[in-house]
Amino acid sequence: MCRTDAASDKGRFSATITANVKIGECFWRMDMRFEDAGGEAFARFRPGQFLQIDASDAALPALESIPPELRDAAQRKVLLRRPFSFAEVTPQNGATMAELLYCVVGPASLRMTTLRHGDTVDIVGPLGNGFWVPEGKRTALLVVGGMGVPPIRCLAKTLTADYGDLETYAFVGAKTVGAFPFEGKLDEVSEQLGFSVPAFARFGIPSVLTTDDGSAGAQGFVTEHLAQWLDDNADRPKEETIIYACGPEPMLAAVAKMAIERDIDCQVSMERRMACGIGLCQSCAIECRVPDSDETVYKLCCQDGPVFDARNVVWPS
Ligand SMILES: Cc1cc2nc3c(=O)[nH]c(=O)nc-3n(C[C@H](O)[C@H](O)[C@H](O)COP(=O)(O)OP(=O)(O)OC[C@H]3O[C@@H](n4cnc5c(N)ncnc54)[C@H](O)[C@@H]3O)c2cc1C
Ligand code: FES
Repeated sequence: MCRTDAASDKGRFSATITANVKIGECFWRMDMRFEDAGGEAFARFRPGQFLQIDASDAALPALESIPPELRDAAQRKVLLRRPFSFAEVTPQNGATMAELLYCVVGPASLRMTTLRHGDTVDIVGPLGNGFWVPEGKRTALLVVGGMGVPPIRCLAKTLTADYGDLETYAFVGAKTVGAFPFEGKLDEVSEQLGFSVPAFARFGIPSVLTTDDGSAGAQGFVTEHLAQWLDDNADRPKEETIIYACGPEPMLAAVAKMAIERDIDCQVSMERRMACGIGLCQSCAIECRVPDSDETVYKLCCQDGPVFDARNVVWPS
């Protein structure tokens, strides 16, 4: 997974839904299968890339099952595709199976909940650059906030499969226990596993779980635990460590600051509202630094990202 092997074969493909299940208060898991050219293109999907899904033709759920706060928004027409990451991608017998974790927040994601086994969806992808592993890394620290789980979980699988020598740790945080897009009762699981998050434990990756309100795992911000780990391991060569992060922007800014202060490489997966997803509409601009200069330039989250080197992003001061 070097920086230059980004898939260039993006396209418009049909995927068949193989499961679409509710896994939490507002979280769903959708499994889909790509075949033929779609299967080949998505077999090369790399963690951190994304897809654009067309949910315009899907039906709305019955009014009584739409949360009251989304009932007005539900009526909006879904003219544009919506961007999503994959949490897992598995080439299988000539096809490619993929798992999408999504949070129901508006008209498109509400419609996605009515898709059933055997339905097809129109997908554009794989899009964006994805994470990369620079030469010489021996330790990877995965930092996740809330709905940032999917691309980092996808990365965890790839690092385990393709970079067996990397020592990897995960730091997983959310406001409260209900804000994690994990299946099963996390509070029970975390008691059994000593706060090891099953989604990462299955790859042999030790993890720390935090919630702001203490409803699962340790109370506090995930960044406090990352800082503690970095302090405890200050004797490790910093050039051999890399941090990968996805989550709310204030968390990304805090992780970036910590990494930059310690001169540790850090890649952040950013989010912007995306209209086209392919570099045409300019709706997803991110202010970035020009190396060795005081100037800044706007880059496109959909095309130049969504993964950026944390040093290159202009973070709010
Ligand atoms: C690269 C990328 C990967 C993503 N991966 C996932 C994923 O794996 N799972 C998932 O649940 N969601 C993911 N999202 C977010 C998802 O695209 C939005 O939640 C989507 O807009 C939902 O569509 P909707 O019609 O249901 O709600 P909308 O009406 O489009 O949005 C509902 C609310 O969320 C806000 N919002 C939507 N998108 C963004 C954004 N990018 N930044 C800030 N606020 C936003 C809107 O302003 C609005 O208030 C990703 C976004 C990006 C850019
Ligand atoms: S979403 Fe249109 S340019 Fe990025």
